[in-house]
Amino acid sequence: MRFNNKVVLVTGGAAGIGRGCVEVFHAEGARVSIVDRDEQRAIGLAAELNSRRSASAILHACDVADSVALEKGIEHCVAVFGRLDCLINNAGIHPPDTPIEQMSMDEVRRAFDINFFSTYVASRIALQHLRTTRGSIVNISSMTAVLGQKNSAAYAATKGAQLSFTKALALEVAADGIRVNAVLPSNVDTPLMRAWAGTLADPESALKRIAALQPLGRMADPAEIGRVCLFLASDDASFITGQGIEADGGAALDY
Ligand SMILES: NC(=O)c1ccc[n+]([C@@H]2O[C@H](COP(=O)([O-])OP(=O)(O)OC[C@H]3O[C@@H](n4cnc5c(N)ncnc54)[C@H](O)[C@@H]3O)[C@@H](O)[C@H]2O)c1
Repeated sequence: MRFNNKVVLVTGGAAGIGRGCVEVFHAEGARVSIVDRDEQRAIGLAAELNSRRSASAILHACDVADSVALEKGIEHCVAVFGRLDCLINNAGIHPPDTPIEQMSMDEVRRAFDINFFSTYVASRIALQHLRTTRGSIVNISSMTAVLGQKNSAAYAATKGAQLSFTKALALEVAADGIRVNAVLPSNVDTPLMRAWAGTLADPESALKRIAALQPLGRMADPAEIGRVCLFLASDDASFITGQGIEADGGAALDY
């Protein structure tokens, strides 16, 4: 029970990797706040968690690109649970496979608003609460931050921004006892992965090819990424800050 009596807020916590994080932290005793634009899914997940342990889960339905609504989500969490020990900046989108000249600047800005500016804004707001608990931030970046990805320049750039932000912020808040880390997954079997594969020619064989990119021969399960986040947020990682942990099933090896 590594998060007993502690509180985690997960953006995009209703599905995919975010849901994996929510489940893993909850199983370790955490009270969880799910911030997600998919209200119905968030309601369903919170109800399930509360039936396992009463008063252990809340939700705040919003688009994380809306800074005011995001701030309300964080304040709602602290108002209900009285504290915040870990912020997981996970909500994100992957625009369809598109060459740079065919992608509109509105789409690029939308990707930055959701994937990067929400990370920046939520972290900025959460710091005052994390100072009290000497808590931590975990940003869900991506291996595309360091390896790139064809026809995904905007997406990869948002993930690179999260990684460099992680390092710079870790420096800024280390003296307050706050740790900031990032996780860089390669391919994780989530609704987003399946939707993105659907934008490629022949999605079924694309999914097989994507699984084979990992020497481990498969994509990650969302809970496997959740367990990396739990480690980073727990006292087990008390001397780790400013790191980008490559949870990639070996995908970057053997170049
Ligand atoms: N799936 C992968 O292979 C993979 C790999 C590397 C990094 N990532 C990153 O992990 C994160 C989660 O990805 P996933 O695959 O679990 O996605 P997903 O689409 O399966 O789940 C994302 C969740 O976030 C919510 N969400 C999306 N946009 C939102 C917004 N604007 N406001 C509020 N909620 C929003 C969705 O409703 C959903 O519940 C993303 O930041 C993504 O870039 C994913």
